[in-house]
Amino acid sequence: MSEPLKLWRNARLVTCDAAAGVIARGALTTRAGRIEWVGEEAALPAGAADEVHDLTGAWVTPGLIDCHTHLVFAGTRASEYAERLRGRSYEDIARAGGGILATVRAVRAASEEQLFDESAPRLAALLSEGVTTVEIKSGYGLSLADEAKMLRVARHLGRAFPVTVRTTLLAAHTLPPEYRGRADEYIEAIAREWLPQLCAQGLIDAVDIFCESIAFSVAQAERLFAAARAQGLPVKMHAEQLSNLGGTLMAARQGALSCDHLEYAGEAEAAALARAGTVAVLLPVAFYCLGAERQPPVAALRAHRAMLAIASDCNPGSAPGASLLTAMSMATRLFGLTAEEALLGVTRHAARALGLQGERGTLAPGQVADFVVWNLRSIEELGYWIGFNPRRTVVRAAEVLRWPNPIL
Ligand code: NIG
Ligand code: FE
Repeated sequence: MSEPLKLWRNARLVTCDAAAGVIARGALTTRAGRIEWVGEEAALPAGAADEVHDLTGAWVTPGLIDCHTHLVFAGTRASEYAERLRGRSYEDIARAGGGILATVRAVRAASEEQLFDESAPRLAALLSEGVTTVEIKSGYGLSLADEAKMLRVARHLGRAFPVTVRTTLLAAHTLPPEYRGRADEYIEAIAREWLPQLCAQGLIDAVDIFCESIAFSVAQAERLFAAARAQGLPVKMHAEQLSNLGGTLMAARQGALSCDHLEYAGEAEAAALARAGTVAVLLPVAFYCLGAERQPPVAALRAHRAMLAIASDCNPGSAPGASLLTAMSMATRLFGLTAEEALLGVTRHAARALGLQGERGTLAPGQVADFVVWNLRSIEELGYWIGFNPRRTVVRAAEVLRWPNPIL
């Protein structure tokens, strides 16, 4: 028996395909979890649907995509936040053995079950806002066993929750204490041993590195990227967050999927990102929580037509939060993005930042049928509400998720 044809009618569709692409009186049909047809309801192809959903004129967008998170972690770093409020810097805390290494100690001490249980509510919070695809990084294990543990938890979350999880190996997040003074050897161990093993276990979809004075150099990133390429894995970079080391220019040259943060990037980086089709991922929650002053070069990125994405960066240090809608609000207010840029930043461009543009991020024939029905009067309201959730219905692979969902 062939899969049922479902008709979703009476919708204000924001396809995110060509620009935002609004279809005021729209409809779409789905079959076998994918979109078959999208357009004006008046132009609907003839033929009876097996199931009809009347969306009552509501706004519909693609399922949201959070393309940069570190949501698998244990413990908190609230005491560091308090220290930063008193004036201590993020770098200073990191150099004194706190920061990322504080979370590494907590993650190493946690069992796989504990890690899952601590991380699940953060994922649930994102899902409740209409996130249907989320990237999750490792990077708080920093040993082969503990990085594998984090990645298994990320995969497990993807099976336990109605969401698509893409995993990223961020073993090059900071130097673990065992390798003090031997950063090149650490990168070599990841490149030669960890990457091939974790890849063979099906645990990694991409490779990331924190390119910064408190983390790794451009040359070390280049070495790691070569190893990723040898495994057929795409790369991305935490780049130009606290200073300008030149990581973005190298990453763009190598065709990275994305460069993320970018506060210290400028005109040259904007041009390089645009030329390479590397997505500029903005992380305004980290900017906000670090009390950062320097803004990413939004005007230059726009002028060069670089693709902008927005992500939550959910992590215990720089971005303690699990709200992509809040990140959208901050990207508009703090960085000056338009409502349309913010929406494309969590749909079409976020999909590109994960290499998923052929599957997700737009409402178009052939795409996975992930979409959100919103309680909104205008689509601008998406980057407008803070701490209020206008989600009505989430449809994942053409199935309606029921709320309250027992696991959300
Ligand atoms: O994206 N910049 C490096 N990594 C994270 C912070 C991680 C942490 O502080 O635990 C970020 O901001
Ligand atoms: Fe990050």
